[in-house]
Amino acid sequence: MTVKIFDTPEVQDFLNTVAGFDQAGGSERAKRIVHRLLADLYRLIDDFDVTPEEFWATIGLMNELGKGSQFGLLAPGLGFDHYLDMRMDAEDEARGLAGGTPRTIEGPLYVAGAPEAEGVARMDDGSDTDSEVMWLTGQVRDTDGRPVAGARVEIWHANAKGGYSHFDPSQSEYNLRRTIITDAEGRYRARSIIPSGYGVPEGSPTDRVLKALGRHGQRPAHIHYFISAPGHKHLTTQINLAGDPYTWDDFAFATREELLVEGRLIDDAAEAEARGLEGPFTEVVFDIELSRTEAPELQSRHKRPRALEQAAD
Ligand code: DHB
Ligand code: FE
Repeated sequence: MTVKIFDTPEVQDFLNTVAGFDQAGGSERAKRIVHRLLADLYRLIDDFDVTPEEFWATIGLMNELGKGSQFGLLAPGLGFDHYLDMRMDAEDEARGLAGGTPRTIEGPLYVAGAPEAEGVARMDDGSDTDSEVMWLTGQVRDTDGRPVAGARVEIWHANAKGGYSHFDPSQSEYNLRRTIITDAEGRYRARSIIPSGYGVPEGSPTDRVLKALGRHGQRPAHIHYFISAPGHKHLTTQINLAGDPYTWDDFAFATREELLVEGRLIDDAAEAEARGLEGPFTEVVFDIELSRTEAPELQSRHKRPRALEQAAD
């Protein structure tokens, strides 16, 4: 039977009490946000005639998501990460800080504390001899084209099975994760392996939510970056390797035209030797432009829960 009770004074008074409006303590902002959130959900229950069975099944699903620390995996699939990016892009525009290489989502699989190297690093542990060798390089510049020496370029990506070290126990510690400090010309260089696309774990609560929407949990092959340098805006971004079937069908909505990079297969012994490699390799070039800013809060990444990073206070 369909009943409509949301607009009654009884329910409205009840909401005010639940949100703590009649209490002196607590946070005004928390009260206002929780009031709004609960009001929207109460109304939804009325409008869609949500049954107790449906309500408690959802609570069960949220408990499963929490048990597996999966809210951070689901959030990109529900577009929250991209929506926050859209808001930060609009803020940059309003501040006159637009320009430079565009941002895109961080994702939930960063791990703090990767080994640091000056100018050049090998990112893979050498155990995967079947994957294509990748030579990843580029120059960090400011928006006037001047090279940025001493920039911190943090790079992390999946292996050829789409797994990330730390979260995938079969990989060695910090495999495919490095911090490279740019040289006097603003350049960074890394030897690694070509990553595959990533998929949310089959049968996981995140996967179940996406399946209920008729969606998949696949991402195209991508490489994550944090780039920072004093006097410049911190940049969180990714590149996508061109030619992936999921390029424009990314469940996490992170693809941007400017961040699509075509790898170039090089089968030339002299070119390989010049990079300290043997045999054919794929070169991926990603130059990065940073906007200048003197605001300290814009020069570092925002706080969020991250693996092996001290909890934000
Ligand atoms: C997810 C995983 C990623 O590797 C990524 O870059 C973005 C999102 C995820 O599981 O939600
Ligand atoms: Fe990723």
